[in-house]
Amino acid sequence: MISGLDDVVAAETTLSDVDGAGGRLIIRGHSLDELAGSARYEQVLGLLWSGLFEDLPDEPGLAAALGRVRVEIFKQLAGAKALAARLPAVDAARALIAELADGDDLACALNLVAAPAVFAPALILMQRGDAPIAPDPSLSHAADILRMLGRPAGVEEAAALDVYLVTVADHGLNASTFAARIVASTRAGLTSSALAAISALKGPLHGGAPGPVLDMLDAIGTPEAAEAWLDAALDRGDRLMGFGHRVYRVRDPRADALKAAARRLSRAGSGAGGRLALAEAIEAAALRILARRKPTRPLKTNVEFYTALLLEALGFPREAFTAVFAMGRIGGWLAHAREQALSGRLIRPQSRYIGPRPDEAA
Ligand code: CMC
Repeated sequence: MISGLDDVVAAETTLSDVDGAGGRLIIRGHSLDELAGSARYEQVLGLLWSGLFEDLPDEPGLAAALGRVRVEIFKQLAGAKALAARLPAVDAARALIAELADGDDLACALNLVAAPAVFAPALILMQRGDAPIAPDPSLSHAADILRMLGRPAGVEEAAALDVYLVTVADHGLNASTFAARIVASTRAGLTSSALAAISALKGPLHGGAPGPVLDMLDAIGTPEAAEAWLDAALDRGDRLMGFGHRVYRVRDPRADALKAAARRLSRAGSGAGGRLALAEAIEAAALRILARRKPTRPLKTNVEFYTALLLEALGFPREAFTAVFAMGRIGGWLAHAREQALSGRLIRPQSRYIGPRPDEAA
């Protein structure tokens, strides 16, 4: 048995390739380095969904359809206030998504992409005691998300959110995508697949890490305090959030894309430059200490470290970061779910029983 299914190939995919040794992410033949900063989320959605949905429009058509669906999804916010009052944003968004119809077609997929994009900003505003802001279908998906957050987006902010959404759109057979494929293999439908995926995403070892990254930055406070704080955390047996990865043994290319976006945003005057300088100092200290303490295990900065910086600079509260992750990853989940449903077989592995046999139990 292979603990954690390390290196087990559980699916064939044309969607993305995580090259852990080379530190590269390929999405449908394009490297992330090429896509991040140049492509809008709608474009990557079209790339991921190509061949998987009938009647998939071209990029402008997809952007327009998504805008119209955001408007429709906004009408589904009845009941959201009560959820916002008692649940974290990701759990409240999951509950709202659970009310959407299941299906396998493009209409269902568009609903599911629009849902976290509309629900997360609305829930964030409601949790602050403010009224939700209706979508503007004429805007790009990223610009409209920021507008619904109450942050009329300049070009730089919308571009930075696009970098984020594109960067996290798909990433091989990560835990949430595997969960989506398992559910899709039972032919349960895209909504059910997305719900399983969100549930896997929220764990701190997967998509729940960036909030704790900011908690770490706050607790450390100054570059001078970094080494001692990080050493003490590792002495306690804690893991440093935003570092390490199951597959990447060199740089996580997503961290580089997001770091570059955070720097661009900071230079454009959005986001606190001081925060970025603190983060860079803490990153450098963490990499030094991890290399010293785990010399045989390359532990580098992962996607979540600069996710935290970028999303904070864009005005998302840390409590909602996982729901924001879902806004981007939903495109990849749905592509994988369709790919699995169209070509796959029911996923049904075996377990090895190591409990007592009836004759031994007494
Ligand atoms: N800080 C300190 N030590 C670590 C860390 C870390 N962030 N990550 C791994 N290690 C240690 C771990 O304790 C173990 O040490 P030992 O062999 O002495 O017991 C060794 O490195 C190998 O750990 P592992 O559990 O085999 O590593 P993994 O491949 O299962 O873990 C991980 C991958 C991402 C869960 C882990 O690196 C981690 O917990 N990181 C912190 C949480 C985090 O940043 N999560 C976001 C992941 S990226 C988003 C995504 O793609 O989902």
